[in-house]
Amino acid sequence: MKTSDQFPANFIWGVATSAYQIEGAATEGDRKPSVWDTFSATPGRVENGDTGAVACDHYHRYETDVELMAKLGIKHYRFSIAWPRIIPDGRGNVNEKGIDFYKRLVDCLHKHGITPHATLFHWDSPQALEDLYGSWRSREMASDFADYVTAVVSRLGDRITNWMTINEIPCFTDFAYDVDKDPPFAPGTRVKTRKEVWQTSHHALLAHGMGCQAIRAASPVPCSVALVDNISVTVPLTESAADITAAQQAFHTSWLNGGIIFPALTGAYSPVMLEKLGVDAPVIQSGDLEIIHQPLDALGFNIYTGSYVRAADNQNGYEFLNFPKGYPRMNMPWLHIVPESLYWGIRHISDTLGCKDLPIFITENGCAAEDELNAQGEVVDTDRIMYLRQYLKAAHRAIREGYPLKGYFLWSFMDNFEWPYGYSRRFGITYIDYKTQQRIPKASFNWYAECIRQNRVV
Ligand code: NOJ
Repeated sequence: MKTSDQFPANFIWGVATSAYQIEGAATEGDRKPSVWDTFSATPGRVENGDTGAVACDHYHRYETDVELMAKLGIKHYRFSIAWPRIIPDGRGNVNEKGIDFYKRLVDCLHKHGITPHATLFHWDSPQALEDLYGSWRSREMASDFADYVTAVVSRLGDRITNWMTINEIPCFTDFAYDVDKDPPFAPGTRVKTRKEVWQTSHHALLAHGMGCQAIRAASPVPCSVALVDNISVTVPLTESAADITAAQQAFHTSWLNGGIIFPALTGAYSPVMLEKLGVDAPVIQSGDLEIIHQPLDALGFNIYTGSYVRAADNQNGYEFLNFPKGYPRMNMPWLHIVPESLYWGIRHISDTLGCKDLPIFITENGCAAEDELNAQGEVVDTDRIMYLRQYLKAAHRAIREGYPLKGYFLWSFMDNFEWPYGYSRRFGITYIDYKTQQRIPKASFNWYAECIRQNRVV
C-alpha cells in the first residue's frame, strides 16, 4: 500500500564502514602502518590497548560480509580505501596487491547487486608521511594525496563511479593536533599554536580540492565526486522565525562549518569565522581557495547530533543552550539524541549556501549502544531502533519539504574499532563477537531491513 510516509522510489538505503575500523590484516598484502597503527600501539592512547590490527577481519571475510549486506537488502555500500595499502610509503610505488583487494571487494559487491561508494581517505594517513614531513602539517600532503587518488581512480574507476574525497576533516586535523583535545586522535602530535592546527585543516581542504581534480582527470567514465563533512548542526529551539534565523546565524559562525564546508562550497572561509580566528587564521596562499572550491556532484553529511539555539538579546542575536543534566544520549559522551538535527543540517546547507539543487546524502548516522547478547544469543537493541527511527523520520521530513536528500547510509554495518574508544563502543547493526569473529545481526538489522523492504520508516 502506498502511504504518505513512503520514501521516493529511487531513495538510496545503505550502510557505511571505513577501512581501518574493520579490515584488520594490518601487515598483509604489503600494507605498511598508518598513523592509527602507530598511535593505537602506543600505551595509553586507545581504551584497553585496542588496535585495528585484526578489527573485524573484513580483509579475509569480505565475501560473507557482503552476503550479509545482501540479506539486509541494501543496494549501496559506503566503505573507504586505505592509502597505506595502495601506496604503503605514502608516496612512490603503487602496491598492486592493495588494489587487488579492493577489486575483489568491489566485484563481490557488484555480484550481489550492491553499488560501491568509496571514500578515498578516512583518517589512515601513511605513517611514512608523518615521519617524513609531519603529514597534515605540510602542504606536501595535499599533492601526495592527489597522486594516491590518481593511482586508485585510474585502476578502480572502471568499477567505482561514486567517489568521496575525504571524511570529516576535523577528526584528523583539529582532534589530532590540538593541544587541548581529549581524547586526542592519531597522530596525536600536539602542535604549539591554534594557527598551526588551522593550517593542518587548510592542507586537508587543499587535498580535497586536488583530490577532486585528480578523480575527474583519472576516471575513465563520468563519475560523482563528493566531500563528506561532519557539519555542526544548530537546531532552533522552537520553529519561530526568530529562532530559525538565530540557528542559521549560529550555523554560519561555528568554526566547524565556517572553516570547512564554507570554503569547499563557496570558495571562501566564513568571514565571521575568520574574524573570530584573528591571528590564528591559517596562511592561505594565492590560488588555494580556487583549488579548494571545486565543483561537486553531491554532498555527504555525517549527522549524529546537534545543538539547540535560540534568539537572544545579545551582540550575536543568538545563544547556544547547554544540554540539561539527564538529557537522553546514547553511548558516547557527545551523542545527545537530537533527531531534528538531521533535518536542520540539510535545510541550513540547502537554504543558505547557494546549493539548492545539489544532491545530499546522509553518509553516516547511527549510534553506539550498550549492546549485550541475551540468553538466546540475540542483541535486542530497541534503544538503537528508537534512535534510528526518529532520525529517519527527520530525513523523511526533509524530503517531504523538497530538500534534495537522495540517500542514507547507516553507521555502521557492523561493530568496529571506534578510534580512541577501541572496541568498547558498538555502533553496528551487526554484533561482532571479537573472540570468534562471529557476525550476529541485531534486532536493529531486521528493523532496518524492514524499512528498506517497505521503503518507509517502520
Ligand atoms: C564518524 C566517523 O566517520 C566514524 O569513523 C566514526 O566511527 C563515527 N563518527 C562514530 O563516532
